[in-house]
Amino acid sequence: MGYNLLKGKKGIIFGALNEQSIAWKVAERAHEEGAELVLTNTPMALRLGELNQLAEKTNSLLVPADATSVSDLQNLFDKAMEHCGGQIDFVLHSIGMSPNVRKKLPYDDINYDFFSKTLDISALSFHKMIQVAKQKDAIREWGSIVALSYIAAQRTLFEYNDMADAKAILESIARSFGYIYGREKHVRINTISQSPTPTTAGQGVKGFGALMDFTERMSPLGNATADECADYAITLFSDLTRIVTMQNLFNDGGFSSMGMSSRAMMQYNKSLECKECKENPLNNPDEF
Ligand SMILES: NC(=O)c1ccc[n+]([C@@H]2O[C@H](COP(=O)([O-])OP(=O)(O)OC[C@H]3O[C@@H](n4cnc5c(N)ncnc54)[C@H](O)[C@@H]3O)[C@@H](O)[C@H]2O)c1
Repeated sequence: MGYNLLKGKKGIIFGALNEQSIAWKVAERAHEEGAELVLTNTPMALRLGELNQLAEKTNSLLVPADATSVSDLQNLFDKAMEHCGGQIDFVLHSIGMSPNVRKKLPYDDINYDFFSKTLDISALSFHKMIQVAKQKDAIREWGSIVALSYIAAQRTLFEYNDMADAKAILESIARSFGYIYGREKHVRINTISQSPTPTTAGQGVKGFGALMDFTERMSPLGNATADECADYAITLFSDLTRIVTMQNLFNDGGFSSMGMSSRAMMQYNKSLECKECKENPLNNPDEF
């Protein structure tokens, strides 16, 4: 159901690859809420063809851009402003990739060229896109910029590898640039720290199934889906959150505030199979 929250607004959405992508869901919701969109991804992602369906469905312009290339970003913002007849109201950065994760290199034996790539694609691209937008004065006063992050920026999660470092930088860029862009143009910059979500990038992380099961058991509200992430992003693009900036906002069912849950303890009790554990009332899920 739409609420016209983005009626008359124009936005650029980076990172929709296929129907599972968080950015795909955000684009669908933003369209439903009345926004006019420009979709972008790498030339290779565009060649795969799936994005054409999304562009058609949401009546959007599709512009290729490698988010690590400043000239691609300059071209993208020029095309987007031309298409929208002026400034943009919101931008979504939903981009992440680590060659070290892809090649399954452990964190204590990573390749440094890959590490640089991880940081460039997953974090510095955020700075580049904001800097290009600001230089072109492409974002309207009180506009909104959002990037997708993960709790590995604050806490160590096995196998998340150098993406954890990239997310820490990403969140820091939101604060550092959020101050400058907020002070000068009232543009807000936030990150959404999302639950593990079964997308192409998510499933590339080793042990992803176990991670999803763990966070589901640990979160009182369960894992947030990509659709639920899209709902949250829409509020951040809307005028209802004009004074929220420089924040890392958890959309994770409560996971980030938990230490141990009844459901997770039950799972450990099962695997320990000791008498004391079996007698523990925590074994009864209905009591907690
Ligand atoms: N899936 C999860 O579990 C999860 C959890 C928290 C945060 N996130 C974050 O959400 C964001 C979106 O990921 P997703 O899970 O929807 O996966 P996804 O694979 O659908 O999206 C990742 C996107 O990054 C794009 N990309 C890669 N290199 C690029 C480049 N050089 N220039 C432009 N685009 C590039 C890919 O083409 C793809 O569209 C990422 O930042 C990811 O880290 C994902």
